[in-house]
Amino acid sequence: MGKVIVVTSGKGGVGKTTSTAALGAALAQRNEKVVVVDFDVGLRNLDLVMGAERRVVYDLVNVIQGDAKLPQALIRDKRLETLFLLPASQTRDKDNLTPEGVERVINELKNHFDWVICDSPAGIERGATLAMRHADVAVVVTNPEVSSVRDSDRIIGLLDAKTLKAERGERMEKHLLLTRFDAGRAERGDMLKVDDVLEILSIPLLGIIPESTDVLRASNLGSPVTLADARCAPSLAYFEAARRLAGEQLPITIPGEKRGIFGKIFARRAA
Ligand SMILES: Nc1ncnc2c1ncn2[C@@H]1O[C@H](COP(=O)(O)OP(=O)(O)OP(=O)(O)O)[C@@H](O)[C@H]1O
Ligand SMILES: [Mg+2]
Repeated sequence: MGKVIVVTSGKGGVGKTTSTAALGAALAQRNEKVVVVDFDVGLRNLDLVMGAERRVVYDLVNVIQGDAKLPQALIRDKRLETLFLLPASQTRDKDNLTPEGVERVINELKNHFDWVICDSPAGIERGATLAMRHADVAVVVTNPEVSSVRDSDRIIGLLDAKTLKAERGERMEKHLLLTRFDAGRAERGDMLKVDDVLEILSIPLLGIIPESTDVLRASNLGSPVTLADARCAPSLAYFEAARRLAGEQLPITIPGEKRGIFGKIFARRAA
């Protein structure tokens, strides 16, 4: 049975779709079988970042409504054999996602893939709660600024209340992915420091992705950044985050700083 991950944030535009594509590709680059699922019905972004927008025939809503079978809607990546996309519809609205339909699709995907990575829409409404509902693990994407951290805090509350795991009284595994981090701006006080964010959210850190034009370049090429340039700084950070997601314990370095914060992270995990 595969693991279901939700990539969520509350606030919009913080890097959920970028991170879904990068983590999905990074796991597939390790030969794991991965499907990335676009829950942002109405906007449809993940297909662009994955470079598959011209190959979309059927989407998540079609499968839920029984207009298409799951294999008809899945798009295999042209670069990586083990990476698949289940796209969202650009035209239909979120009301077409039914809880029963989502459950059926996720269960079917879990039987075929090692990782089912759900790209959540922004906000705390229906689309976001449906995307997180069946998750085993949550990746909370946060930018180092007050409004993003505040919204992530609300999402953490929802993850502990509105998911199947929470309703069963089980602990939802949550990880913080700090994206668009700029060490210089954090040092000048224009952005929150890593410690400040960790202090407020107090969930274990999965990784720190630096702000970089490499991300935009990859997105314009229709490629997850880890595939476009495996050696640039954001890719290295995403590869490490993927390894942590798969259970490896690796030290985390703050971009722009040499000092590792390994001890601190694991002290928190143990707490
Ligand atoms: N590390 C980064 N460095 C520079 N730009 C980034 C980085 N991560 C994301 N971006 C840019 O930020 C913008 C928003 O990213 P993305 O679409 O992934 O966010 P999102 O959280 O999925 O947004 P939405 O809430 O609208 O779905 C994009 O233009 C993306 O290229
Ligand atoms: Mg998005």
